[in-house]
Amino acid sequence: MNGKVVTELGTSVNPANDSVTVDGVRVKSVAEYTYIMLYKPKGCITTVNDELGRKTVYDYLTDIDVPHLVPVGRLDYDTEGLLLLTNDGDLTFSLTHPSHEVEKTYIVKVEGEMPEHKLAQLRKGVVIDGVKTNRSRVKLLEYKDGISRLRVSITEGRNRQVRKMFEAVEREVIFLKRIAVGELRLGGLARGAYRYLTDAEIAYLKSL
Ligand code: URA
Repeated sequence: MNGKVVTELGTSVNPANDSVTVDGVRVKSVAEYTYIMLYKPKGCITTVNDELGRKTVYDYLTDIDVPHLVPVGRLDYDTEGLLLLTNDGDLTFSLTHPSHEVEKTYIVKVEGEMPEHKLAQLRKGVVIDGVKTNRSRVKLLEYKDGISRLRVSITEGRNRQVRKMFEAVEREVIFLKRIAVGELRLGGLARGAYRYLTDAEIAYLKSL
């Protein structure tokens, strides 16, 4: 691989960067595209560059030399968690298309209690920017030291959607982390770290 002899079984290959030859013959990769899961930390933006000079998600991907790697949707500057990046434009299009957006799950912390009627309002849909949100799944996980922690799953990707949904029920979001996109989970990935998706994960995303 890349001119070196590899003897270790299970050596992983990045199809976009690595060149693999067997008996001098280049092995053509099955995977044409690159699919990455990044644990985006808060304090960086989800675009290529920022006129204000702020950190971007690409600052966490400096060792990957893949052209046109773009984020699948966005996370706000202050939001952390699971961000997919790929150069597979068809997949990006289908995962973010408003007609059938994949469900995204967040851990949300807000100041104050979350009484049942506010939870019910969020589940049924609230009006943000003049348009009602789809039904969502909302579970109160705990209320401790004046802070409510919830798990929220939504099927749209409107601008600052979760923050605005909570504003609509008079609660300010003080922590927001995306933990899942469909069945793909952030798991134990460290903040700021990334990994390549497995073949099964790629097949799953393409099946959605
Ligand atoms: N909802 C938000 O408010 N912000 C995000 O980054 C993602 C969802």
